[in-house]
Amino acid sequence: MRGLDGAPEWPSLRALLPDLAGKRVVDLGCGFGWFCRWARTQGAAHVLGLDVSAKMLGRARAMGADPGIEYERADLETLALPPATFDVAYSSLAFHYVENFAALLATVHRALVPGGKLVFSVEHPIYTAPAHPGWVVDAEGRRTWPIDGYRVEGPRRTDWLAKGVVKQHRSIGTTLNLLIGAGFTIAYVDEWAPSEAMIQARPELAEERERPMFLFVTVGRSA
Ligand SMILES: C[S@@+](CC[C@H](N)C(=O)[O-])C[C@H]1O[C@@H](n2cnc3c(N)ncnc32)[C@H](O)[C@@H]1O
Repeated sequence: MRGLDGAPEWPSLRALLPDLAGKRVVDLGCGFGWFCRWARTQGAAHVLGLDVSAKMLGRARAMGADPGIEYERADLETLALPPATFDVAYSSLAFHYVENFAALLATVHRALVPGGKLVFSVEHPIYTAPAHPGWVVDAEGRRTWPIDGYRVEGPRRTDWLAKGVVKQHRSIGTTLNLLIGAGFTIAYVDEWAPSEAMIQARPELAEERERPMFLFVTVGRSA
């Protein structure tokens, strides 16, 4: 397992994070806890890693004990957090599993201190839109990524990696408007795709040139 460094998008996502030294951080959908541990190496005072999966949390705990990291089982659909407790909220590739995103954003906004930041990545909606995600090869052998029902938002069932995984498809407009509705100020939006230099280094990423893989967003709670 290569952790954060195995993810080609990590340097770009990392660049969106504020200085974590002395900060109280929450990682929403922390998985194996890679980010929680990295945040501590950056000087974070305390990191709360939340995930719905006991199995993921078990693996995270087994990867190293640290009194500055707390892992807790929590469902982001019904999350409760104490108000004005965190300087930074972070989430990588978990929000597209959450149906009640408006409620989660309201909770996160309340849980941040004034001036606090939320930085997150989700699968780009070009990925979550098609009813049957995948490449199509046309008569000339060109591979294209069909967009099917971009405007039809809601659950999409996929059988990629695991069978019957349900992701919530939201357009970029909906995601940004939900953030604005929760009271956040949008600071930065990135539709991430690998650069030419990355493709040179990892040729298997070449097909990702076709469309952005991820949506990264940085928002803040007003001071
Ligand atoms: C693709 S993994 C990403 C894990 C980690 N953030 C990373 O980037 O390595 C998605 C994670 O979100 C978690 N997750 C999915 N739905 C969730 C929910 N409703 N509440 C909490 N965690 C959830 C999964 O258990 C999984 O660990």
